[in-house]
Amino acid sequence: MPLNLSVKLGPLELATPLLTASGCAGYGVELERYQDLSCFGGIIGKSISREPRLGNPYPRTAETPAGMLNAIGLQNEGYEKFVQGTLNKMRAFNTKTIVNVVGHDFEEYVWLVERFDSEAGIAALELNLSCPNVKGGMKFATDVGECERLVAACRAKTRLPLIAKLSPNVTSIAEIAKAAERGGADILSAINTYVGMSVDWRSKKARLGNITGGMSGPAIKPLALRNVYDVRRASKLPIMAIGGISNADDVLEFMVVGANAAQIGTILFVEPDAGAKILHDLKGKLIDAGVSSPAELMGTLQGPERTNVVA
Ligand SMILES: Cc1cc2nc3c(=O)[nH]c(=O)nc-3n(C[C@H](O)[C@H](O)[C@H](O)COP(=O)(O)O)c2cc1C
Repeated sequence: MPLNLSVKLGPLELATPLLTASGCAGYGVELERYQDLSCFGGIIGKSISREPRLGNPYPRTAETPAGMLNAIGLQNEGYEKFVQGTLNKMRAFNTKTIVNVVGHDFEEYVWLVERFDSEAGIAALELNLSCPNVKGGMKFATDVGECERLVAACRAKTRLPLIAKLSPNVTSIAEIAKAAERGGADILSAINTYVGMSVDWRSKKARLGNITGGMSGPAIKPLALRNVYDVRRASKLPIMAIGGISNADDVLEFMVVGANAAQIGTILFVEPDAGAKILHDLKGKLIDAGVSSPAELMGTLQGPERTNVVA
């Protein structure tokens, strides 16, 4: 059987199961010199808001063992400038364009989704429900009722595939996943960053201007795996896994616990050509394992059902 790397996530078909994670590769432009962007099934750009945002005070990133903290604060050029310039560049890539949207409030999300629905060349919209680095930015990701209400309102404004991006900073990601599904999301993406901090004890100062920030990278991979596993057991929706994915084995591990595709983020800061490398290795590993399509691996985790939530 020849290898077929394409994946179908409900209404969204991707030529490969790899995507860029929002905020980790700008809008794809800088990545082009490192690899043919067709290695990605889709490019997901940094979150776009209605108005331009300047973001948080510096410093905005801090390195940690096996990962990084960031508190960019959703700096972006805003809807108007994005559709007039950057979106055209994204549309010209040899891969699908996925726009990630974020709002200060309910109305801003709905406004953005309605506008993007009428733009040509967008394959899907991802709702950044969680923004741990922005004041008041968490309620849609942490409150079951608010999440369902927002996803339903966005659903009513678009026919584009709608991806709800979940936060791990919750008591039960399964409950939020179910709320997003009830609201009408087509796909779930999990996870966004974990809230963390880093301190220099000599200067007695936090290393981030915002004090706290979002933790990402290999350090969060086991945590992300557990979240994706929980989301898979709670919902039948297709899942894009995110969190510390740095090589082909990581992608395959997430598929075994139930993911249909994988977004790569922090690894791109270390290896900007990670997309091409991971895809190349993924092909080899699937062929060696006698697997003809990534979908064959989805949710194949063996062993007893987990009974307790706490380890
Ligand atoms: C510098 C940076 C900026 C980010 N900006 C966004 C963003 O604008 N919108 C969003 O939904 N997620 C954003 N994220 C979260 C990533 O998309 C991803 O969910 C997270 O980093 C975990 O994946 P990783 O460990 O592969 O980086 C950002 C992450 C980083 C490191």
